[in-house]
Amino acid sequence: MFARARQWAPPGHDDMARRLRLGVNIDHVATIRNARGGRFPDPVRAARLAVQAGADGITAHLREDRRHISDDDISRLSRELEVPLNLEMAATPEMLAIALRHRPHAVCLVPEKRQELTTEGGLDVAGAGAHLRRYVEQLTAAGCRVSLFVDPTPTQLDAAGAIGAPVVEIHTGTYCDSAGATRERELARIAAAAARAEGLGIECHAGHGLTYETVAPVAAIPTIVELNIGHFLIGEAIFSGLDSAIRRMRAAMDQARAQASA
Ligand code: PXP
Repeated sequence: MFARARQWAPPGHDDMARRLRLGVNIDHVATIRNARGGRFPDPVRAARLAVQAGADGITAHLREDRRHISDDDISRLSRELEVPLNLEMAATPEMLAIALRHRPHAVCLVPEKRQELTTEGGLDVAGAGAHLRRYVEQLTAAGCRVSLFVDPTPTQLDAAGAIGAPVVEIHTGTYCDSAGATRERELARIAAAAARAEGLGIECHAGHGLTYETVAPVAAIPTIVELNIGHFLIGEAIFSGLDSAIRRMRAAMDQARAQASA
């Protein structure tokens, strides 16, 4: 039972420098299950397999409309996981009550719009600081490590620092969706945001849209300590199996990190 922060000993500084953590997001195992109702495929089984394949933690987004992960999935993950659970959620009273009930190791606050296909952009921490600060404080007091999902801009990073967020997760979606010079520019923005986070004393994670093709340059940024990856891995699992897809991603991350620090 490692789902709760107080039960999970964080890696030492040397471990953090050596190993970039991988959080596998299992939302879309639940998407496939929900296409038919019923119980298969089971996201908790996928979570266990992800851990065997090299995931350091499991990420799950409980959306307001419950389109993939369900309340019962969160209960089972909280009870059964032996690695940290990172609960992604909107900053709403309903979600806060659920998080306080389960007290997962980590909570990542994300913006949520009902009609969006996925989390389309980062939080407006600069515009909604007072609201978000209350969530950061209450969840931190409950023992959760709170991160804010933000776009890689100095304004959002500084605002996260100003409200005392211990962690940010940088949205890599625009980088992944672009090509050529635009992608290079986006990568530079992510690297600058990660450096700014470090300067502010904020732990830096990254994720959204990462693939075998896009992961290495992000993994090579030394101040990023965790990547959260889901949709691509679950898609690849159709072709190569979940175990193989995660192992390949893990290897790509480790290789990029090793080359960058050589
Ligand atoms: N990080 C956050 C905060 C997210 O909202 C998501 C998508 O749920 C991810 C990471 C994973 O993104 P993807 O499924 O595109 O890999």
